[in-house]
Amino acid sequence: MTTSPATPGAIARAADILRAGGLVATPTETVYGLAADAANPQAIARVFAVKGRPRFNPLIVHVGDLDEALRHADLHDNAVALARRFWPGPLTLVAPRRAESSVCELACAGLASIALRAPAHHVARDLLAAFGRPFAAPSANRSGHVSPTTAAHVEAELGGDIDLVLDGGPCAIGVESTIVAIDSAGAGTLLRPGGVPRAEIEALIGPLASPRDGAIEAPGMLQSHYAPRARLRLDAEAPRAGELYIGFGAHDHGAHTLSRVGDLTEAAARLYAKLRELDATGADTIAVAPIPAHGLGEAIRDRLVRAAAR
Ligand code: TXA
Ligand code: MG
Repeated sequence: MTTSPATPGAIARAADILRAGGLVATPTETVYGLAADAANPQAIARVFAVKGRPRFNPLIVHVGDLDEALRHADLHDNAVALARRFWPGPLTLVAPRRAESSVCELACAGLASIALRAPAHHVARDLLAAFGRPFAAPSANRSGHVSPTTAAHVEAELGGDIDLVLDGGPCAIGVESTIVAIDSAGAGTLLRPGGVPRAEIEALIGPLASPRDGAIEAPGMLQSHYAPRARLRLDAEAPRAGELYIGFGAHDHGAHTLSRVGDLTEAAARLYAKLRELDATGADTIAVAPIPAHGLGEAIRDRLVRAAAR
């Protein structure tokens, strides 16, 4: 076992591992992340190798607060306003990278921009404080697979290949952070829907653009992603013969539901664990009830569409 409860002693050990160039899985409020020293190219190269992640796909750099973020990126007032409102929390800001940043080129895949987020989970925050520097952390899963929302998910998928998994219990939000790019003129683009609903961001800085058609601006937006082995059938009113069914609200056909009361927050928190659970039964097809597109529903639907893509 690589897993340890996230005690203060284990967090101190995790910080030592990061300093030595090792890899530590840490809970965040969204999903578990695979953390490595953002300034250490060897450590970052290991993250890409362990995940089987294409090197053109940059990582999110995790920082303690806005002041630390300002050392790595030029943040327009709109980005600062978003950070003040939503950090610590499930929002990632992509902005022009500063030449002075200590973050290695590989973590940013050589781009002129950098993705930054201050996580809210106390274990991730304590690890950042103990380490004293930013860590890069993609979701702690193999590239293209379902993200982990428990330490057991990480242990099962990556346990043999990484140095430590800090167990901080299940993730409260359960889908990844919302990624918003803010350019030097302050214009915002929604690169990935996630834990902060679009409407809350637009209320602060106005309408968000969509990534240009065809251009992959966040490589995690590749069509097939977050994918279980089973086929997924979406917006299913009811299961067909031989299908397992994941319900939502009034669409309820048996044992499995994202939220019996139709609560999107509960549904997001359960989504990945439910997909893993049903995938592990060896089912050919998992049918999923219609999920409304508002609030966290936009992120849930986005992940389901990508998980269904083949
Ligand atoms: O909630 C989260 O964001 C989790 C936790 C661990 O913080 N992390 C996460 O990381 O989801 P990952 O690597 O699975 O997804 C990061 C996404 C990718 O789609 C990547 O392409 C995008 O962020 N990204 C990173 N840097 C970028 C940049 N400079 N420009 C555009 N997209 C970027
Ligand atoms: Mg990921």
